Amino acid sequence: MKDFETIVCERRSVRDFLDKPLTAADITFLAKAAGYAPSGLGCQTRRFYFIVGTEQLAALNAIIEKSAAPAMRERISRRTKDGNFCFYYHAPAVVLIADKAEGYAPMQDCCLAMQNLLLAAHARHLGACYLNQPYEQRENADFRAFAESRLGMDPAYRVYAACALGHPDGVTPLLIKKQTNAIVI
Ligand SMILES: Cc1cc2nc3c(=O)[nH]c(=O)nc-3n(C[C@H](O)[C@H](O)[C@H](O)COP(=O)(O)O)c2cc1C
Repeated sequence: MKDFETIVCERRSVRDFLDKPLTAADITFLAKAAGYAPSGLGCQTRRFYFIVGTEQLAALNAIIEKSAAPAMRERISRRTKDGNFCFYYHAPAVVLIADKAEGYAPMQDCCLAMQNLLLAAHARHLGACYLNQPYEQRENADFRAFAESRLGMDPAYRVYAACALGHPDGVTPLLIKKQTNAIVI
């Protein structure tokens, strides 16, 4: 395993993936990392949905595409290998992190779990990219129907964080200078 500083500083948003599935051991490792993140009042009510089925991924992409603003549709299509809209960049998996909407701090709990998962993915030589569209569409009727009927999501739950996940195709360079912006008083 790489050391902590290397994992944190090397991690990049990966948007090019090999056509290679995740293993059950990958998912167990990532779910553990996500589950060990802090949660408000220690409630741990969040759920981690690893969507690996191509049919489910295609259905989710169609829902996101239908609601996508033209600028977003164009930006994402420009970033995919085949130039077609695919909000998860043809990754072999998408992770949705959901929590009870009426919980104490669902957004914070899901995002903390997501950061653990992103770092764990890099530590395991996997690639991941945060995806904001499922959060943006969390109240969309089609998205809710998909979540409840295809994922079995409790109607009281909402998606607060998501990412694409898979084996990176190549190395993603550091595209923007990272700032620390520390203020010490
Ligand atoms: C809240 C949030 C939403 C993001 N949404 C998307 C997204 O929808 N699609 C995407 O390709 N990247 C998305 N990103 C990834 C950022 O573009 C990326 O983290 C940023 O450009 C810095 O690059 P790095 O992750 O390689 O350090 C998101 C990141 C965050 C934190």
